[in-house]
Amino acid sequence: MHTMEKPVVWALLLCFVAVVNGVQTTDLGQNGASAGTTQPYRTAYHFQPLKNWMNDPNGPLYYKGVYHLFYQYNPYSAIWGNMTWGHSISNDLVNWVHLEHALNPIEPYELGGCFSGSITMLPGGRPVIFYTGADTNNFQSQNLAFPKDPSDPLLREWVKSPHNPVITAEDDIEPSDFRDPTTAWQAVDGTWQVLIGGKIDGRGMAYLYQSNDFINWTRSEKIFHSSVKTGMWECPDFYPVSINGKDGVDNYLEKGNTKFVLKASFLDHDHYILGYYKAERNGFQVEATDFMEANTDWRYDYGGKFYASKTFFDGGKKRRILWAWIMEADSRANDIKKGWSGLQSIPRVVWLSASGNQLMQWPVEEIESLRKDEVEIKDKELEKGSLVEVVGITAAQADVEISFELPNLEDAEQMEPSWTDPQLLCAQKNAAVEGRLGPFGLLVLASSNLTEETAIFFRVFKNHSRHIVLLCNDLSRSSLSRDVRKTTFGAFLDINPLQESISLRTLIDHSIVESFGGGGKACITARVYPVLAVDKEAKLFAFNKGSHNIKILKLNAWSMKEAKILPIMKRRKPPV
Ligand SMILES: *[C@@H]1O[C@H](CO)[C@@H](O)[C@H](O)[C@H]1NC(C)=O
Ligand SMILES: *[C@@H]1O[C@H](CO)[C@@H](O)[C@H](O)[C@H]1NC(C)=O
Ligand SMILES: *[C@@H]1O[C@H](CO)[C@@H](O)[C@H](O)[C@H]1NC(C)=O
Ligand SMILES: *[C@@H]1O[C@H](CO)[C@@H](O)[C@H](O)[C@H]1NC(C)=O
Repeated sequence: MHTMEKPVVWALLLCFVAVVNGVQTTDLGQNGASAGTTQPYRTAYHFQPLKNWMNDPNGPLYYKGVYHLFYQYNPYSAIWGNMTWGHSISNDLVNWVHLEHALNPIEPYELGGCFSGSITMLPGGRPVIFYTGADTNNFQSQNLAFPKDPSDPLLREWVKSPHNPVITAEDDIEPSDFRDPTTAWQAVDGTWQVLIGGKIDGRGMAYLYQSNDFINWTRSEKIFHSSVKTGMWECPDFYPVSINGKDGVDNYLEKGNTKFVLKASFLDHDHYILGYYKAERNGFQVEATDFMEANTDWRYDYGGKFYASKTFFDGGKKRRILWAWIMEADSRANDIKKGWSGLQSIPRVVWLSASGNQLMQWPVEEIESLRKDEVEIKDKELEKGSLVEVVGITAAQADVEISFELPNLEDAEQMEPSWTDPQLLCAQKNAAVEGRLGPFGLLVLASSNLTEETAIFFRVFKNHSRHIVLLCNDLSRSSLSRDVRKTTFGAFLDINPLQESISLRTLIDHSIVESFGGGGKACITARVYPVLAVDKEAKLFAFNKGSHNIKILKLNAWSMKEAKILPIMKRRKPPV
């Protein structure tokens, strides 16, 4: 069904482009990544506006065969401000057309900005935007906007509700910390439910509001969920996942085989917990551990740049897709100089792991359409202390999958009881520190003499008799520039190397490196700003600095083509 819709959508898009532009479109190439040294950090296949500041993804949606991405955008500069909802559409989540902004801050209740929010499908299939407006005193309220013409698959024009603001902060709520409504869902009796992020006395929480008509909302007396250990919850997200299988589940369907994910953005990361939920009890019941309560502190991504994410159910391919804002790790002055700041992650499919204790994530399959120039290495011994260059691809713009086999697992070093923090452990035992089983993995965005290198690597330890696999991303030598942050990140990977190979997939796109360990059990996204390893100067290596030989079972690497991201078309008079 999805494939049948495709030609229609493209015809629509092309027709739209032709009509609105009145002349032929110029494909600027997304990104100017090819513009070489003037913009070495511009990406080639990640979603970016043509210029200026972007942050949170808002209201992602699959509607009448078209993917929509809205996002926090400053039309005027490369720093945060004047927050507006940018709007882009796609047929495949890879190539995009930028449309007119969906929401501009013009009403009194939003003069301080149209902040983040979500889209809900009303019965009958009409979408509604639920978003936060901030007035000039930064008093935040919740507001609605409807498509002017719901029959338009491109949803180009949005009209704000005359009932706005529909939710304002009651006296006990801090009005400057009251934002980011989730997609709403219906209880069995039809009552609408929506969560809003907030904070009281440092305690982060999600408030639950209910409504019969989507306009008149009442706060539930019971706080939906909260935690003293978190601070303000931004961009809460709440959705079901299937207990068996990868299929996504629509926002709230009252049926058995699901668990629920509650995600909140705080302390620079997107954290999630798993649990069970029944609407009539207003109750979310945590299954195992709550936010920040154990070293099973689940995060979508263990880098420090993946934030304010949002998921949506893709009815076309029956999957749940996750988008997140990837922020810069350089200075504000650099952002102003390069004229832009912020990317969107490659959209990821999310599902529950077979063991049911965590989520899995994997880049949407559509991104593979950009692969070319495949290089394959199979069953290759990676001797201790060795480095193997992967040649034949554009290493600054690539997709790499690699898996390793370790013959001497019984020789793994014993963990010490104090090694509980994976990020700290990765910083102490960085890529330069030789070990027994590891470090081994990839060096990406590396200069030819390795003055610059970004290492993504594994170490395998034994904790009593159980093996522990550590995934690290060491940025300490990623750039000669002193002006950029070079934090090292790490995560424990919940796999048993006696039963499965140790695998890594890494997407490299000039200034971003997105890594997926163990088939998507732990992800680390990093921003990297090399000075030497730019464009054609960038190299890719596999390495092993452990004291044992290991084996590359399989390595597949591809150059990645540039995604087509057509600029917004200004209305022009056709030539006479
Ligand atoms: C917001 O927009 C106004 C123009 O409408 C501009 O003067 C101002 O500099 C902008 N602020 C930011 C932070 O971009
Ligand atoms: C809004 O809903 C509440 C609770 O259902 C009800 O008590 C109140 O009368 C409603 N207000 C309006 C204006 O409809
Ligand atoms: C590596 O190459 C860079 C650029 O050519 C050079 O500046 C640097 O001195 C070299 N470093 C080493 C250790 O050879
Ligand atoms: C190692 O084992 C100890 C004792 O069983 C446990 O408390 C600790 O969490 C384990 N470490 C890791 C990283 O799993």
